Amino acid sequence: MLCRWGILAAHSRGSAIKATRRCAKAAPIWACSSTSICPAVSTTPSRHVATAASGDPLYNFAIRHITKGLGRITEGLMVKGNGSYVLYEDGRKFLDFTCGIGVTNLGHCHPKVSAAAANQCMNLVHSQCSIALHEPYARLIEKLLPKMPHPSLDSFFFWNSGSEAVEASLKMARVFTGRQNIITMQGAYHGRTFGAMAVTKSKTIYSQGVAPLMPGVFSIPFPFWHQQSVSPSTDTSVLVDQSLYQLELLLAQQSAPQDTAAIIIEPVLGEGGYVPAPPKFLQGLRKICDKHDIMLIIDEVQSGFGRTGKFFAIEYSGVKPDILVMAKGLANGFPLSGIVSRKKLTDKLNPGSMGGTYAGNVVSCAAAVAVADAFQEENILENVQDRSREIFEYLNTLKSDSTLAPYILDVRGAGLMVAVEFASPSGHGAAFDPVTTSSCPKDVASRVAKKCIEKGMIILTTSVYEVVRFIPPLNITTEDLRKGCQIFGEAVREVIREG
Ligand SMILES: Cc1ncc(COP(=O)(O)O)c(C=O)c1O
Repeated sequence: MLCRWGILAAHSRGSAIKATRRCAKAAPIWACSSTSICPAVSTTPSRHVATAASGDPLYNFAIRHITKGLGRITEGLMVKGNGSYVLYEDGRKFLDFTCGIGVTNLGHCHPKVSAAAANQCMNLVHSQCSIALHEPYARLIEKLLPKMPHPSLDSFFFWNSGSEAVEASLKMARVFTGRQNIITMQGAYHGRTFGAMAVTKSKTIYSQGVAPLMPGVFSIPFPFWHQQSVSPSTDTSVLVDQSLYQLELLLAQQSAPQDTAAIIIEPVLGEGGYVPAPPKFLQGLRKICDKHDIMLIIDEVQSGFGRTGKFFAIEYSGVKPDILVMAKGLANGFPLSGIVSRKKLTDKLNPGSMGGTYAGNVVSCAAAVAVADAFQEENILENVQDRSREIFEYLNTLKSDSTLAPYILDVRGAGLMVAVEFASPSGHGAAFDPVTTSSCPKDVASRVAKKCIEKGMIILTTSVYEVVRFIPPLNITTEDLRKGCQIFGEAVREVIREG
């Protein structure tokens, strides 16, 4: 008998492949006990010709025809997601501490969100934003308006991806101010399209070999000790003063305020190492922007929608964004991004200057309405705060363990956007790196993440430093969070022991 995912595969793929893809297990995969993770590689005797990871014909076929430009941390075909877990075709089940990089924040296939999308599919799938306004678009604005971090944010535009939303924000800033230059943070990640890539300064891999990038982009160091090459124990106020000083210098030496359209910043640096921006820094940026009529663009693509325990991370600082960018968790997996600004400003845009074939898709908007409802009904923000305390307690205990202390530099983040930074034997910037620990194993973060995968949990690294990031579902249970932490702890100990 074909299992559920086998049937799906059989319907949609060729019969030659179908013949080799009979499911190994008679019992449903979710029969795996909820308190123990199935082994990363199933030990159940299998009737598969080969496991998906090692020899599934469809997987191997696809891999041969997918661009090498994509990287991937797991092998095999992911076939199902349910809450905090994902399942691969060969029976491997993983606890998912990535949420598809901060997207399926209410867990995979949240029943109300999936049902809302399915229902919408039976009514209207696409209307195109330049042809007609659809109901879920209007309903979504109704839901989001009261959740905005400042009441002045009252004019919405929905697009598909975070990068597109960043592009829109840059375009708006230029139109609103009639100026060109954009200031970004060293360590920032804003996406891979041309404008977004130009303001991305977290890793060279995103733009290597594709210059020239969009001109008129300048950067200052984020108030993070690595970026300023100072000790991790440096007082936050010193980091803030240094970064604001660099900004003032930049405005005096490189980009005159009269030429500067916007400053763009993530309130929690994501790809730069999961570093929350100190509220004083954000307030300082606001002051400088007010003084020179520069737009402050707050990119909450990753930190937004409850990830840090508030709807938007910028709320911790009380700072008013001129333009707010969001995506990822907004629709729990359906492609949707949003750009919000003041009506007084967006009224300057020519009708037709914004838009896109799939912008603000009906099904995605319907899913996003259900996400907003679920936040309310299921007390998601409270869960984030409670689980956040637990994860920090666990990781800080790990950090203070005398056998690990020399190797764990930092535990940081906000809400359930949390990172552990390990020491590095050489560091980036080598001799100038403020912290190198020669006894530390090489590539410790990626080795720890790999071990976690072997033990049944998917987790990601981030930044050019040795950082592992935790992005569990916002509605994760204490039990699953503890399970993930224990897997991480075991992985760290093993990597350190192996040296
Ligand atoms: C802060 C931030 N901005 C923008 C983006 C780009 O979003 P997308 O990958 O949807 O284009 C990301 C993606 O990770 C992000 O984290």
